[in-house]
Amino acid sequence: NADTTKVHRHTTDLAMAPGSSEKLVETTLGAARDELVRGLGGLLGQPTPEATVDGGTVPDGAIVVGTPASSPLVGRTIATRDLATVGDEGYLVRSVSKGRSRFTVIAGNTDLGALYGTFAFLRLLQTQKPIDHLRVAESPKIKHRLLNNWETERLYAGNNPSGIGGLNGESGAIFNFAATGASAGRNLPVILDRYLVMARALASLGINGITINNVNADNAYLTSARIAQEAALADALRPYGIRLGLSIRYTAPTDSRFAPDTLTNAQLDPYGADFRGWWHRRAQQIQTAIPDFMGLTVKANSEGQPGPQDFGYDHGDGANAIAAAVAPLGMTVHWRTFVYNAEVDNDRLKRAYLEFGPIDDEVQPDGSRGRFADNVFLQTKNGPLDFQAREPIHPMFGRMENTNQALELQITQEYTGQNWMLAYLGPMYEEILKTDTYATDANGKLLKKRLVGNIVDGTAQHHPDTAIVGVANLGNADNLTGHHFAQANLFAFGRQAWDWTLDSTDIATDWTRMTWSNDRRVVDTIRTMMMGSWESLVSYQTPLGIGHQFAEGVHYRPDPADWAGRDDWSPIYYNKADSVGLGFDRSPTGSNLAAQYFPRLQQRYGNINSVPENLLMWFHHVPWGHRMDSGRTFWDELVYRYQMGVQYVTWMRETWDALQPDIDARRFAEVRAKLAVHEADAADWRDTSVNYWKEFSGRDIPVDDAPLS
Ligand code: GCU
Repeated sequence: NADTTKVHRHTTDLAMAPGSSEKLVETTLGAARDELVRGLGGLLGQPTPEATVDGGTVPDGAIVVGTPASSPLVGRTIATRDLATVGDEGYLVRSVSKGRSRFTVIAGNTDLGALYGTFAFLRLLQTQKPIDHLRVAESPKIKHRLLNNWETERLYAGNNPSGIGGLNGESGAIFNFAATGASAGRNLPVILDRYLVMARALASLGINGITINNVNADNAYLTSARIAQEAALADALRPYGIRLGLSIRYTAPTDSRFAPDTLTNAQLDPYGADFRGWWHRRAQQIQTAIPDFMGLTVKANSEGQPGPQDFGYDHGDGANAIAAAVAPLGMTVHWRTFVYNAEVDNDRLKRAYLEFGPIDDEVQPDGSRGRFADNVFLQTKNGPLDFQAREPIHPMFGRMENTNQALELQITQEYTGQNWMLAYLGPMYEEILKTDTYATDANGKLLKKRLVGNIVDGTAQHHPDTAIVGVANLGNADNLTGHHFAQANLFAFGRQAWDWTLDSTDIATDWTRMTWSNDRRVVDTIRTMMMGSWESLVSYQTPLGIGHQFAEGVHYRPDPADWAGRDDWSPIYYNKADSVGLGFDRSPTGSNLAAQYFPRLQQRYGNINSVPENLLMWFHHVPWGHRMDSGRTFWDELVYRYQMGVQYVTWMRETWDALQPDIDARRFAEVRAKLAVHEADAADWRDTSVNYWKEFSGRDIPVDDAPLS
């Protein structure tokens, strides 16, 4: 654990606060050197001597890091054509013998590639993999591997909005912009140690950008004062290859805080020079302060956020207007597709595609298809609702052939136990990325590559620009994420963003070795706990595809009987509980969401006998007596799932207890305390849900599943 409140000197005219110490790393290769010195020192328990080796012989056992430009030795030992295969951000790690010396070369085409290679090498060492015959060649499959950090709201790494208390050091946002009280004097441009801890963690995973504010954006982030603070943060993150982005509000130009440069509503025409000019000027101001600024993320016409539809235009008009304003500056616009205007369709899950699909299909004056500009990414959540523990894939994946699509995954556990429940989401990301869309080409022929991961990495439909986004779980807790095991989700997201074909079990193994222990028994035990934890959460929260059953607001506890003030926020809208059965009919006899998928999935999901059971109630209103694969009735299976989910948590708690001798006292106790809360709250989900469903089914709880309290 780092002292995350320590202050670093940012500019020379900034007074050094007490406790400030290390200077900031200035270059990417400097960061690589620091990581090696620190990492090797820590892992080997002895200081690491540094040397300049160009010219002379390379000492036996040396580790050489660099690019052909920074190190002639790299140029001499690694063939240019080999390096060419790994691209801008990739790396090679090679064991080399020359004369009597054997040494390791970590090489990239860029300094950032070399830094990523350094982290990869340290990971091999830390997970006790053999390092004597290395021949590693790695490059990322997806170009922009980003975090969105929703500061101030839904920040489960810091706040516990569920009001059930918190452990020490767990409250608050990761970035201090306007620090008051005890934190006064520690706001940006002061660089806190935790920003660097974060930067190193993100770079070690290959994450190359972060949008730092909430999608429900506050215009303050675009004011001159804030831009100066953001520039200081960007400077600190730059050596680690992490670029900054901002979420913006569509109508920001009318905010009086920008006076005299403010517009009236009448000037917000997306095709007008006023609107585009305003965004261009603001982006230019940001770029002057932050030369490598990535671009803007926009949540428009969603959950009360303003957007082009308020002015008689559609999402294409709005996205393209801002995109045109920032394109000359080389910036992108991430336009979110999380929209669910009730006028579009009765079924919330159908609404986004109905709005965005036609714009993607539209024939343009030059005969091409698709209206969205080249520097627009449509940023789409993995599923059509809202980050539920398990959802079917969003029907838009594969359907937006003519538009850049970014996949948005949630790392912060908004609906998956917040920072109380141990839920390893690697298997969830893997399930999503490896789901077959059955996408076809224009002639109806199945594409060869058509998993969600292929759509996102551009290989399915030949998109050159690709992005994946994780809604982050960073806060000012000492461990950055609140729950020690929540770090595993950030780790898994980063690894899968780099290479979505990875196996989430292997990722769990690496993480466990790096975080807890290399002891075989400990690794096996913790990995086993992790690997079943998400499925267990699905089982005691929302088994068999029953969507969103959360009490209003907090998104932690259940309330299946709730009418949350509006239909499509209400558990009863999703469960449709009645004496016949449970679940939302989205088959051809119902809303027919199924028809938004490619034919193969359409048939599979649309039929109660072929839909995967874990998605059953997303697509069907299931009769209580329906026969399940297990031979049980639907009712019996449902109760069984709730019970199994809770039993798994009990097993995790007991299993963790048995690890006490192998885990340091502090972390052992912290995880133990959380598992106790987890078990009680999981049981609450089971009991609240089953007792409520029972009122409709009129059936008894199967004896096997006693005792339900
Ligand atoms: C969820 C979440 C909101 C968030 C929204 C979004 O509904 O609860 O806090 O703003 O998703 O993705 O825009």
